[in-house]
Amino acid sequence: MKCLRGTSWLKQSRIYGVNQSRRSLIAIGAGLLGASCEKPKAPSETGGTMRAYGERAPAEKIVRTVREATASAGSGSSRTPLQDLYGTITPSSLHFERHHSGVPALDSSTHEVTVHGLVERPLVFSMEALRRFPSVSRTHFLECAGNGAGEQQGNPAPDLQRSHGLLSCTEWTGVPLKLVLAEAGLKPEAKWMIAEGADAARMARSIPIAKALDDALLAYGQNGEALRPEQGYPVRLLLPGWEGNVNVKWLHRLLLAAEPAWSAKETGSYTDLMADGKSQIFTFEMEARSVITFPSGGQKMGGGAGAYEVSGLAWSGRGKIESVEVSTDGGRTWAKAELQAPVLSKSLTRFRHAWQWDGKEAWIQSRCVDETGYLQPTREELVGARGLNSVYHYHAIKAWRVAADGSVNHV
Ligand code: CO
Repeated sequence: MKCLRGTSWLKQSRIYGVNQSRRSLIAIGAGLLGASCEKPKAPSETGGTMRAYGERAPAEKIVRTVREATASAGSGSSRTPLQDLYGTITPSSLHFERHHSGVPALDSSTHEVTVHGLVERPLVFSMEALRRFPSVSRTHFLECAGNGAGEQQGNPAPDLQRSHGLLSCTEWTGVPLKLVLAEAGLKPEAKWMIAEGADAARMARSIPIAKALDDALLAYGQNGEALRPEQGYPVRLLLPGWEGNVNVKWLHRLLLAAEPAWSAKETGSYTDLMADGKSQIFTFEMEARSVITFPSGGQKMGGGAGAYEVSGLAWSGRGKIESVEVSTDGGRTWAKAELQAPVLSKSLTRFRHAWQWDGKEAWIQSRCVDETGYLQPTREELVGARGLNSVYHYHAIKAWRVAADGSVNHV
């Protein structure tokens, strides 16, 4: 019995259809290797029992990296192992976390969300009441504004989890916020909505009313089941495409107001200090960004020279990804990558690119354009425009170095 371990799929123009010339595909397919393998043994004994709640296979070990970052109790972050995930959805158990005073233990049967301030009818909603509203499910990424602070400062992380892991993507289910606000009745002077969490820090952010009435959700579902406690159980604010911090978890209060609250997390942090000493404040949108997930730092291209699939993720807080390009020669030439359909707005998009590696040192990188025409910048361009003071909203092109032995390192 002969098992193909090779890459004959690269010959099929169906897979890499529109962007690969036939000639380059044949060239890639020329170096195929076959390997014989033994006939698989059929199981002869009854397997394990059924489980009421599923677990992954014992050999699968990928985990978040957890960092208790700062002096205050319960503050810290954990990062998603993007380099080890398939597709675009982040398993709920691996969603990145950022907490400011730990994960509160809330009871969905008693939890309430108060809507008050500049409204006609101040209201209190139980979770049961929120679930009676029409619901929607939408797939969106969530990214911490500080995802890449080290890269910005010139200290690139050795692997993707540490350089980009404050990023995840989920199918969220909940009620459109505009329906809840309509129930309370907004007064015309209501220009801001202050969202407050029920964590000990009472984490609060001020949201312009236009976003609250646009695509905001009160989300109680995460990938088909209830939110995980770390993601705001039983209900969180979801503001698609906006920096993670404004997506207030453990939501218990929405105060409609004429002015922002000037809360700690929108004045003392999550502001962008420019080179001239002035800060930009209320910078909410996450810009277009992409990164190669394979091969990436710490991984190994184990098979030597030959055909490899370069793969990665692209996203934009302003809408859909329009295109992604990949360079395998240090940015001298770029080739259009394939985008996995469907390409969703404010969601992760998986891209793929067939690469015939010649076995020599190579610098690989990706760059993307979103539907507004915004092109992901180089680090030089981004630092040139914003300086080095801010640690938020870094989104420049990321390069990886593939050594001749196949090991991959940060640049
Ligand atoms: Co910001």
